[in-house]
Amino acid sequence: MFSTEFLDLPPLAGAHGTVALPGSKSISNRVLLLSALSQGATTVHDLLDSDDTRVMLAALRQLGCGVQQEGSTVVIDGLGDRPPTAAAVKLFMGNAGTAMRPLTAALAVLGGNYELSGVPRMHERPIGDLVDALRQLGCHIDYLGQDGYPPLHIGQPILRLDQPIPVRGDVSSQFLTALLMALPLVATRDIVIDVVGELISKPYIEITLNLLARFGIAVQREGWARFTIPKGSRYQSPGSIHVEADASSASYFIALGAIATGASEKNSIKVMGVGADSIQGDIRFVEAARQMGAQVTSGPNWLEISRGSWPLKAIDLDCNHIPDAAMTLAVMALYADATTTLRNIASWRVKETDRIAAMACELRKLGATVEEGADFIRVTPPATNADWRPASIHTYDDHRVAMCFSLAAFNPASQPVRILDPKCVAKTFPDYFEALFSVTQAVSDAIPVICIDGPTASGKGTLAAQIAQALGYHLLDSGALYRVTALAALRAGLALEAPCEPAIAELARQLPVRFVGDQILLGGEDVSHAIRSEEGGMNASKVSALPAVRTALVALQHSFCQLPGLVADGRDMGTVIFPVAPLKVFLTASAQHRAERRHKQLISKGISTTIDILRADLEARDARDSSRVVAPLKPAQDALLLDNSDLSIEKSVDMVLNWWQDKQPFKHA
Ligand code: DC
Repeated sequence: MFSTEFLDLPPLAGAHGTVALPGSKSISNRVLLLSALSQGATTVHDLLDSDDTRVMLAALRQLGCGVQQEGSTVVIDGLGDRPPTAAAVKLFMGNAGTAMRPLTAALAVLGGNYELSGVPRMHERPIGDLVDALRQLGCHIDYLGQDGYPPLHIGQPILRLDQPIPVRGDVSSQFLTALLMALPLVATRDIVIDVVGELISKPYIEITLNLLARFGIAVQREGWARFTIPKGSRYQSPGSIHVEADASSASYFIALGAIATGASEKNSIKVMGVGADSIQGDIRFVEAARQMGAQVTSGPNWLEISRGSWPLKAIDLDCNHIPDAAMTLAVMALYADATTTLRNIASWRVKETDRIAAMACELRKLGATVEEGADFIRVTPPATNADWRPASIHTYDDHRVAMCFSLAAFNPASQPVRILDPKCVAKTFPDYFEALFSVTQAVSDAIPVICIDGPTASGKGTLAAQIAQALGYHLLDSGALYRVTALAALRAGLALEAPCEPAIAELARQLPVRFVGDQILLGGEDVSHAIRSEEGGMNASKVSALPAVRTALVALQHSFCQLPGLVADGRDMGTVIFPVAPLKVFLTASAQHRAERRHKQLISKGISTTIDILRADLEARDARDSSRVVAPLKPAQDALLLDNSDLSIEKSVDMVLNWWQDKQPFKHA
């Protein structure tokens, strides 16, 4: 997951490959609650691991359910007839609507002493219609803040189930879902729910009904206006249940297949985990995408998408049946041949954020013309390539805003796109960007590389690692490659001298080296410590003076240049390996300063030495690295010099990050 402040997407061109999607949020949290309300154990497979499901699991544990988790499989030992714990319980619901609403209803009919609260945004999301419905049937619920909004206190109900229970259906379908899941707990007689107003988001009610049936509850319905839970209904665990992949998450990859041109002739995206027969309403996004030009084929558990019409065809569509996935259509509209109108989306205004306002604001930043109304959005793409803007996309703590705007990186003007707070995707798809990068290719040479070169002990390694972390970029420690090569050569009995050059180069070309977290593995063995010694550095310096060895390591170093970007640390990153890198830093510090720092480091490791010896060593290594025939240590012509003799590491990091920001087009966006 990217937990950086922002994530810069370089301009993207092609896409090809297969993605496995995480489980559906809506199905995951419904299944967890239904399992908790059933008697006995339910094994839930392919559960989504996200903020919302974590909130639900934590709440269920607090309520006394058994929860055993192993990867994406969770065994829930249901409460059945056991009442939830009698003590006062405070449940924190974060921003998880799919936990807040149904838990409120279930706990209100079961009764107890509960407090349910969330993040500030949760306290702005209306729940009054659900509370009204629950109060009508005798539940005891108090508002702890503003009337109509969480936080709530729930007490003991005195249930009256003889009258039909009215619930509004035109604000959020989650209210009806919440009642449908709570009332089977008390079905001592037929319980009737009447929907007041036109029911929105019907597909989510279909998911609820479908899952209720899997747990033994056969709800009867008359159209979408009246639902009856038959007398004697009782939750029964299905024993085990699989969670479908999230159809709304699929929308980004369906759009990707429709937008991206492939590097190869056969350009397609295959999505695993959800197919055309999905029980999720958002699967109908496929129809909308087809209307815009996507070519989609599907099987029971997969979809395959490729580009059809191009530019995409503008549409005018009632999106009430696909409220979440329709946000993706709003971004696809950027690539359409005319104005696209998405209608009947009033529910967008009460989601994680006011999504109509959010989408309008961010689409405009990219250069689109956008009109918004109470329940529609109308998007006209930028008129020409020159009208596209490099935009810094605000994401409003809304996973879907972050995910759908990543598709703007395919803009024909090859502008990068900055996604602020990328970690908000954790709500439903923690590894969204990793999945995106695994199937996309950047416009050629567009993957940014920051080179940090400089002499030994100048602090390059620390600086490079921190820059990479701040930007979410990959890291290449090229010195480690020379160190590992030297180690492998010595183990093979080779002298680190010219006569052995061809043999060492051959070793280097096939070096079985892998970087896993902080570890450096040589053929599976962790050699991180072995190569970090002073001697290891000197040996690396020796093999690095052999031209054939340097050549042998070029391809391996280039292979580190992957989306979304790279920070490369070494001696010749800017001069030889990545000569067109947009930022090259040459880091120096006086030999005295470097020797003092190294001395401190070694002393702290319990290695005794003197500053003078270290200084002499450093100078010898500098002399060798700078005087060798190939790729001698020197700043690239366009490198920015940074003497950090008197700078703290934080200051140096700030300095380089500022240089990097200055090179980005976003500051004016
Ligand atoms: O950065 P370091 O101390 O791990 O590097 C060890 C040696 O490897 C260094 O003395 C010179 C050599 N080296 C190189 O020649 N080119 C690089 N890009 C990185 C390191």
